[in-house]
Amino acid sequence: MSDTQTRDAWGSKIGLILAAAGNAIGIGNLLRFPGKAADNGGGAFMIPYVVCLLLFGLPMMWVAWSIGRHGGAFGHGSLPGMFHRMWRWKGAKYVGVLGLALPMVFVLYYTYIEAWCLGYAWFSFSGDYLQSADRTVHMSSYFNEFLGDAPTSSYFSGLGAALAAMGVTLVLNVWVLSRGVAKGIEVLAKIAIPLLFIFCIALVVRIFTLEAKADTAIAGLNFLWTPDVTKLSDFQVWMEAAGQIFFTLSIGFGSLECYASYLKKDDDIALTGLSTAATNEFVEIIFGSMIAIPAAALFYGVDRVSEVAGSTFGLGMISIPEVLREFPGAEIFGGIWFLLLFFAAFTSSVAVAQPVMAFFQDEFKVSRAKAALWLAGLWGVGVIPVIVFFKYGYLDELDFWSGTMGLVVLALIEAVLFAWIFGIEKGWAELTRGAMVQVPGLFRVIVKYVTPVALIVILVGWGWDAISTGKLLPTPKRTVAIAEPHRFAGTLSATEFGEDLSPEDQRKKTVVEAFEKELDEAAETAGGDGSIRATVKLGADGGVSVSDVSAEGCVSAFTDAARLSEYLISRGTAYKEVGNEAALAREVPLVIDVRHKAPYIWMARAEIGAFVLIFLWMIRSSFRRHEQNEGAAA
Ligand code: ALA
Repeated sequence: MSDTQTRDAWGSKIGLILAAAGNAIGIGNLLRFPGKAADNGGGAFMIPYVVCLLLFGLPMMWVAWSIGRHGGAFGHGSLPGMFHRMWRWKGAKYVGVLGLALPMVFVLYYTYIEAWCLGYAWFSFSGDYLQSADRTVHMSSYFNEFLGDAPTSSYFSGLGAALAAMGVTLVLNVWVLSRGVAKGIEVLAKIAIPLLFIFCIALVVRIFTLEAKADTAIAGLNFLWTPDVTKLSDFQVWMEAAGQIFFTLSIGFGSLECYASYLKKDDDIALTGLSTAATNEFVEIIFGSMIAIPAAALFYGVDRVSEVAGSTFGLGMISIPEVLREFPGAEIFGGIWFLLLFFAAFTSSVAVAQPVMAFFQDEFKVSRAKAALWLAGLWGVGVIPVIVFFKYGYLDELDFWSGTMGLVVLALIEAVLFAWIFGIEKGWAELTRGAMVQVPGLFRVIVKYVTPVALIVILVGWGWDAISTGKLLPTPKRTVAIAEPHRFAGTLSATEFGEDLSPEDQRKKTVVEAFEKELDEAAETAGGDGSIRATVKLGADGGVSVSDVSAEGCVSAFTDAARLSEYLISRGTAYKEVGNEAALAREVPLVIDVRHKAPYIWMARAEIGAFVLIFLWMIRSSFRRHEQNEGAAA
């Protein structure tokens, strides 16, 4: 217990509340939420969302604060030590490895996204993506090139800008963490959270006073807030809502527990947990709804909101700047948008990395500076493949395991530990000690029975989805794009084949699938990437004529112009100006890029596995040392 005296502590109540809010409020609130809501039918998403918030969001928030404060009283700020104190089983501390490996993996890719926002804030203020007479800035190509995910180099010639942004972001994070809880995290929160509110208000006022190009901003709000009960039977919508609740509240990262560990024995955790959830939900529901979706509705029209906002990154990094740059003050408002995302992410990334800091400090008794150095080493090495192999889906893979599945697995373990192993009565006593708010007695029933069952259903649902859609077996990735995006303001589109196809559409779909299957097989057989280039005349009537075909890499044999032409016609390849739905006749240089993803997906999985093993080994050696020290003292 004497170790607790050397541990960090919160400097002030307001600092704690702001830091806890910053822990939860992040990209999840301002981008992931509107993206998921739009993708799942707007109003249809909100009922499952609120039910999930009450069913396990708030209960798990309280469980996390209880586990954390309890562990903190024994000098543990990370889950191995916390589990060890609550669970009289030798293996408990090893189960806590999830509370180190998952947040470590999470911060790798989350800070990379944070770095994009920082980079884009710079690009906004400097007017880098504004259009000019001799330069069309095609935002999706701009984004893809920034990330090295494009077969072209019209705006960025390599990964230099992304690496630089990541370098700065990493240094900032480690610097804040190295200053400790009160002088680092708390100071950051005191600056970032008020700024975040100011930025949100500025953007809401901006968007609601812009002249509507397609629909009004209010129409966007209506899209989100008109309940649609017909979707309640759609299991997928429930799964997405559940995932969003975990992600946004930072449940299942071990970071809330870590923040709680710096409290005193009788500090109020019921109220702190409630205020964390309430502030997070305020920002998510108010600002998360009032910025991105209304902006998309205003510019693209309500009918296209689901399509535009359905891709979270596309919404934030492509559509919103595309909207803002159409109006005066694009540099300022674009900059504010990205700084908002950056600060929201910054307060979350330090929170999610803090359990690892705490583990080094608490269990190895190293100084803060040394812990920060160890962390920086793991972070710096671990993030390199995320950047370099982004184009192979590396980041998405880490997100699936650590930011989606992992959260639920860890939350389930915590719910069972708290309610069944530690015992609901002891858990209840822990939660309510020093509480100024009355926690509803129903909490006990919910945590003991409802939450674990709901979490098991979610895990089975996701597992089933992952297996049935083949997500676990990576397939090559194909993109069809304009080879010189800076010369063409519009985009390529293709037919989306739905269900109940006419015989003609069925035939086209078969042609498309057969050609793509051949491309995939070529990539798999060659074990590498490739691309096909051609000059393509696209007619407004759907006609296509192909010339100058060249191909390299795994698809070098695909130079048959007639075959390519048949493929492009069948997939309904058309050229459309931004904001103009009619297809235009145009001759474009086209590139079909084929990437062999599998080795990189397995590499991402191996990286997660490596972190698990490293932390297991560290847990073993640190606890052995504890035991030896205790033995020597006795
Ligand atoms: N809770 C954090 C977010 O919403 C991770 O982004």
